[in-house]
Amino acid sequence: METTLTQSSQTPQTQDTFPINGTDHIELYVGNAKQSAMYYQAALGFEWVAYQGPETGVRDRVSYVLQQDKIRIVLTAALSPDHEIAKHVAEHGDGVKVLALWVDDAEKAYHTAVERGAKSAFPPFSTEDANGKVTMAAIHTYGDTIHTLVDRSQYNGPFLPGYEARKSVYPIKPVGLKYVDHCVGNVELGGMNKWVKFYEDVMGFKLLVTFDDKDISTEYTALMSKVVSNGNGYIKFPINEPAKGRKKSQIEEYLDFYRSAGVQHIAVATDDIIDTVSRMRANGIDFLYVPETYYEDVLDRVGHIEENLEELKALNILIDRDEDGYLLQIFTKPIQDRPTVFFEIIQRAGARSFGKGNFKALFEAIEREQELRGTL
Ligand code: FE2
Repeated sequence: METTLTQSSQTPQTQDTFPINGTDHIELYVGNAKQSAMYYQAALGFEWVAYQGPETGVRDRVSYVLQQDKIRIVLTAALSPDHEIAKHVAEHGDGVKVLALWVDDAEKAYHTAVERGAKSAFPPFSTEDANGKVTMAAIHTYGDTIHTLVDRSQYNGPFLPGYEARKSVYPIKPVGLKYVDHCVGNVELGGMNKWVKFYEDVMGFKLLVTFDDKDISTEYTALMSKVVSNGNGYIKFPINEPAKGRKKSQIEEYLDFYRSAGVQHIAVATDDIIDTVSRMRANGIDFLYVPETYYEDVLDRVGHIEENLEELKALNILIDRDEDGYLLQIFTKPIQDRPTVFFEIIQRAGARSFGKGNFKALFEAIEREQELRGTL
């Protein structure tokens, strides 16, 4: 079956029944937030902007808020072993707990979602400090992941009420990351259609594109994926599930190590991927490796690109083209001990798709890593 592009991500919807302005923040539960915060600052170029913990009157946890352009990452760790956050980390390892969505009316969005079948994570509440008021509520999605709905229209503090402003204690060199392009979930076998339907029914998302195991398979493993997108196209959630292959797929490996469905990767956009990846490599970030042979015929497939192919090859950046333009992309290796969450860096030159032409090369690269881990 061919990949089907069912709808353009930029097509305005006539009626958006679940308006979302964009990604508000992404919160990871981690084992050691202080040290993770250093990684995000030193290696990924994020600025430290806010904090809560014992010094601010919060006794059971610490949270570091880091920001680069429009991307806001929250790193939270528990201060006692029986805490829900500590249990989450024991079960899943470091991982994404919250994909928070920025809305104008959190109460209305929450009630709409729950009426349409979403499971409540917490009901709406308002919280305020000297900087104003924020209203939040949350619903469950796949695995232990939740969507917090955040209305910050009456707030001008550094993050949320209760957080204090902080600054990095040494000069940060941003790497050019601009905004969240898409967030990918891995779900269990048979779960993909269920979660696509959840986003369609509950949040009014539309199916953007379908990849089956013919599109995404190597000699050994396969997966299937469907991408859903919200009314204004700013939120894109690809949902992957494993497909039958000769060996264990990367999705099964993820599910084994994360021990449930969860966020697989966060794709962040840059305007200059050569500069961004050069800086990240210099900072010690390691990326998936694609053999040099990839570059021998890549231009036959994608046609003319503005960038210098030798530079892309030296950095191992991949190229793909669709009917709207081309894109450049690269995947980091996992960013924690377990082979679970990683980042994708993406630069779009018109293309609205997800790099289908690179799937085979990328998945073979992941399989080489699986082989080294003994999990293929
Ligand atoms: Fe991606």
